[in-house]
Amino acid sequence: MSIIIFLLVTVLSGQYVVQASDWSYWGETGPNYWPGVCKKGTNQSPINIVTDDAVKTDLAPLKFIRYDFAFSANIINNGHTVQITLNGVPIHLKGGGLPSTYVLEQMHFHWGAEHTIDGTRDALELHFVHYDKQYDNMTVASEYENGIAVVAVLFELSEEDNENLESILNATESVSTWVGGSTAKIPTKIIPYLLLPADHTTFYRYQGSLTTPECKEGVIWTVMTEKLKISQSQLTSFMRVESNSGLLFYNYRPLQELGSRTVYHHLEGYSAASSSVLRSSLLFTLLNLPLISHSYSSS
Ligand SMILES: *[C@@H]1O[C@H](CO)[C@@H](O)[C@H](O)[C@H]1NC(C)=O
Ligand SMILES: *[C@@H]1O[C@H](CO)[C@@H](O)[C@H](O)[C@H]1NC(C)=O
Ligand SMILES: [Zn+2]
Repeated sequence: MSIIIFLLVTVLSGQYVVQASDWSYWGETGPNYWPGVCKKGTNQSPINIVTDDAVKTDLAPLKFIRYDFAFSANIINNGHTVQITLNGVPIHLKGGGLPSTYVLEQMHFHWGAEHTIDGTRDALELHFVHYDKQYDNMTVASEYENGIAVVAVLFELSEEDNENLESILNATESVSTWVGGSTAKIPTKIIPYLLLPADHTTFYRYQGSLTTPECKEGVIWTVMTEKLKISQSQLTSFMRVESNSGLLFYNYRPLQELGSRTVYHHLEGYSAASSSVLRSSLLFTLLNLPLISHSYSSS
């Protein structure tokens, strides 16, 4: 009976609807078929960041609170990525123009970076996913504008291994075989700070969405300007992760339209006022050029 109803609903709706739990990065459950706001939204992520178009500004320093603590941590292969959760005291993100204090929920990786910079796609992107502390949890926060804040760190290919990824990669290997969502304890403690670039004084900021179904909008994105490094062999360890339909060769969502949104480029100490003073003094110099050349010619 329920099968008949299911068939009837399927026929009546006229199309196969991809469920939130049943999506992938290619094929019939790929990004083109992701449901709801993934398709219809106008503030979607990821985007290509055009550095020349980014509006320079100083949003105040970004504060990574307790990111320097050492945490015991678990890793899970959820079929879409490997995700790390930390045990112990909550760690927080605030400042940097964020409207609230945010709690770190989890960290995960995309092989094949999701955000591109001037059209260049790096090897890997790490997402630190936080939710606004005023809400009970991530699920509740995701219903609100600015409820979620993600910090993205890009990793570019390098000849040398990134030793700060070693224990995560070891743990990744232990969960890479698909058995329906396996979890492992990461053998050494994780210091989140070591997975951030040293320079916190510059990043890109824009309003976007989660990059996986249901692609909820109202997410504040912080893409760190400085990149970290990863070797090809380390990247290969991520590419050995399996999903329910075989190897997860890549797990980045295609680029989305920027539309009418603005990307800001936070530069600590940057002052629009001082740069306009600079511009007007430059203008003054230009206007004075004829006088100068006049004085030269008359001497
Ligand atoms: C999130 O919080 C809401 C409200 O307190 C609760 O109903 C829900 O079960 C929580 N969800 C999770 C995943 O913890
Ligand atoms: C990762 O695994 C290799 C090989 O088993 C081992 O030699 C190394 O010590 C491990 N590294 C970490 C940081 O756990
Ligand atoms: Zn992500």
